[in-house]
Amino acid sequence: MWDKLKDLAARETRIESLFAEDQTRAQSFSAQTGDMLFDYSKTAIDAAARDALLDLAAASGWEERRDAMFSGAPINETEGRAVLHTALRNLDGDPVLQDGTDVMPEVLAVLDRMARFADQFRASKITDVVNIGIGGSDLGPAMAARALSPYHDGPRVHFVSNVDGAHIADTLRGCDARTTLVIVASKTFTTIETMTNARTAKAWMVDQGGDPATQFAAVSTALDKTEAFGIPADRVFGFEDWVGGRYSMWGPIGLSLMIAIGPKAFRAFLRGGQEMDRHMRSAKGTDNMPLMLALVGIWHRQVCDYASRAVLPYDERLGRLPAYLQQLEMESNGKSVRMDGTRLDIPSGPIVWGEPGTNGQHAFYQLIHQGTDVIPCEFMVAANGHEADLGHHHDLLVANCFAQSEALMRGRDLDAARAKVADSFEGAELERQAAHRVFAGNRPSTTLIYPLLDPATLGQIIALYEHRVFIEGVILGINSYDQWGVELGKELATALGPVVTGEASAEDKDGSTRQLVAYRLAHRTSAT
Ligand code: F6P
Repeated sequence: MWDKLKDLAARETRIESLFAEDQTRAQSFSAQTGDMLFDYSKTAIDAAARDALLDLAAASGWEERRDAMFSGAPINETEGRAVLHTALRNLDGDPVLQDGTDVMPEVLAVLDRMARFADQFRASKITDVVNIGIGGSDLGPAMAARALSPYHDGPRVHFVSNVDGAHIADTLRGCDARTTLVIVASKTFTTIETMTNARTAKAWMVDQGGDPATQFAAVSTALDKTEAFGIPADRVFGFEDWVGGRYSMWGPIGLSLMIAIGPKAFRAFLRGGQEMDRHMRSAKGTDNMPLMLALVGIWHRQVCDYASRAVLPYDERLGRLPAYLQQLEMESNGKSVRMDGTRLDIPSGPIVWGEPGTNGQHAFYQLIHQGTDVIPCEFMVAANGHEADLGHHHDLLVANCFAQSEALMRGRDLDAARAKVADSFEGAELERQAAHRVFAGNRPSTTLIYPLLDPATLGQIIALYEHRVFIEGVILGINSYDQWGVELGKELATALGPVVTGEASAEDKDGSTRQLVAYRLAHRTSAT
């Protein structure tokens, strides 16, 4: 199957010509759910390629795997866990069985508790909420809090993740310890960055006249550890190990977001995710948006061998979405061993990166248009902005988004480039100047468009990408729900702790690490 797909990709299809051959291409190479439209017609996928991709997906058994996931089977096989983050947005409470027990009563009870807690603090003297977490315990709520800033009507929310003291110092400097709520968000409650920041925040609060006994809350699966940290049980929100860190923003990890936007808007966010779940479980073939997004991903990465994928939201408030998707996609599908322990003999998931438009246009798009690597671009944009009173801004934003996908596809040939400079140069110089102005074009992109970035739409987008990662993982035959690749660095950092302070010797280290340690010790000005 892969060979067939490779042959199809080798045809060097000109994307523009596909539109000439098929007047309905835009409609037939798009998927829609609700008001959301995913247009993948500006890729080289034609009917033959799409059929082959659909065959590949069918052969992977992704639908059976999907049903297994939703039914609570332990599809995270290396950790022996179910994958049930979808239960966190199952607002109607349809039973979800885990080891024979319905998890929904507890999920909905925790959601109600979160809502009461959020309302209590939204109506209190609290002016600032500081969420301390990292990775999945930070990126989701931080990304969403920024995305949904028009809906903020509660205290200010801040996110501290980095163990670099600069992060917590800069954040706490703007807060009053007497009116700040600190939420320590950590699935394991052992992550060194989070626990270090939590202890620093606690000391700051005591020092500045706040009361950690009433102004600290925790979100974790490790209730023994939250208790040991001194956070009373009524301020602890638990969740189960069937929620992966990078999939956890739908539940208690989203508490900071809920405090910022309120329980009602938070539920709308969940509802959006739930709608995407329903769509993913019921839509068939090309109508299934997550499936088509996944197949576009497989086509570009595993078939065409493009190493990276750019996520380019034309929405300033989605500024943290690329970072969020980096974790979601790279931690999930950055694996080189299949579920059965054999080596993956095709590329793993791509490098995911990006920045909002239009900023990126004035920074790195040069390489996307004229560099030697092809970088598939995933644009997203709302038909409307929240700043209706600033009308023209959004028109310009949308025009720029559409212009980029058009330019990437069409390019500019040598004749057109010559015409651009014909008034200024002639002869050999004209040829030289024209060559620099050629755009090869034929560069693939997709566009996701929706009416407005509101809580429900954000929920749809995040669930869409989660399901894309899931389907791609099934096709690759890997486990998208573990992350063993982050462990070695953590172990070595723990061992290096006393080495970088001079308390332990670096002699068993390599020459480079020994040199770096010696430099650090020689230039260290304080023993902090
Ligand atoms: O080190 C990676 C990781 O385990 C992520 O998967 C996770 O989201 C993050 O660290 C934070 O973990 P925790 O929520 O347990 O502090």
